[in-house]
Amino acid sequence: MLTAETLYNKLKNIKTACPGCDYSMSRCEEFVPLINKINDLKKEKNAVILVHSYVSPEIIYGIADYVGDSYGLSKDIKNSNADLIIFVAVKFMGETAKILNPEKEVLIPNELNGCSLADSVTAQDIVSLKKQYPDHAFVCYINTTAEVKAECDVCVTSSNVYNIIENYPSDKIYFLPDRLMGLNIIEEMKRRRVNKDIKLWTGTCYVHEAFKPEAINSFKLQYKNLKVLAHPECSPDVLHMSDFAGSTSQLLNYMKTASDSNNFLVLTECGIVSRIQVEMPQKKIIDLCNMCKYMKSNTLENVLRVLQNPSEKDKIKISEDIQKMALVCVEAMFKYSG
Ligand code: 13P
Ligand code: SF4
Repeated sequence: MLTAETLYNKLKNIKTACPGCDYSMSRCEEFVPLINKINDLKKEKNAVILVHSYVSPEIIYGIADYVGDSYGLSKDIKNSNADLIIFVAVKFMGETAKILNPEKEVLIPNELNGCSLADSVTAQDIVSLKKQYPDHAFVCYINTTAEVKAECDVCVTSSNVYNIIENYPSDKIYFLPDRLMGLNIIEEMKRRRVNKDIKLWTGTCYVHEAFKPEAINSFKLQYKNLKVLAHPECSPDVLHMSDFAGSTSQLLNYMKTASDSNNFLVLTECGIVSRIQVEMPQKKIIDLCNMCKYMKSNTLENVLRVLQNPSEKDKIKISEDIQKMALVCVEAMFKYSG
């Protein structure tokens, strides 16, 4: 049984400069009865709870069986023997779990069910693009719907995108939906001397496109020995000013071995800043908060509700045809990421 003291001792270092992101003892006292109820029900139902690192810390440190980035979580769920999957993240991640485990119930306790990238492109768009670009391989970011994956050849995540684009056996690539990540791919392929014709869709992540070089410049003036870390959904201008770019888990791993004498600016959703403050409290990190409203719409109350009494809206449903076609696209990611 988790106690409020234990939870508070974990979360008390979180300060991400936005309202609701700091943890008092009384907030932890409110969370703990919900956390303990969820953990009991989870055992009773042989459920597994997967949580993306952007989700609120009381969920990560209270009820998660696995926490990670999109790639790590899809690998974890591939090997799970639970009867029920609760995916605390955004809808496309729950769909990836269902594509990999069509026989299992996958529930999502997410109120908003969106993602600015996944919402920017439809399967019909891909069908039209394929007529326009019949010789291109269609490579989609994992932040896409199951229907879009079903129309694409291979999917990628931020942790494997460059290797998959390099290894994929086609010199004509249509990458979608993230235009900024696409521009970063074009630069990285030039750096690796890989010659591919790469066309791009127009989507962006509203959280990551908000980071601007001007702001980084002013932080560099204010903080000595500043190391800048960025997610590849940021613009190339931002990545040019960064010391390291990678997926959310790769950013956390970089921090683990980085020197404690530096200051750090971490340009991604503030869930990563919170995880660093909890797990590496000795690191000097700038309290910056760019919050993803979709990820943060998951709550303990909703996790408990979907465990006790899920509605039809909470269940991931994918038709058999789409699941089979999308599985080919996701399995191709595992094949080419190695
Ligand atoms: P990661 O795979 O790096 O966790 O990214 C997921 C995401 O949605 C970033 O905005
Ligand atoms: Fe989608 Fe951006 Fe939120 Fe990631 S941070 S889930 S890409 S809206």
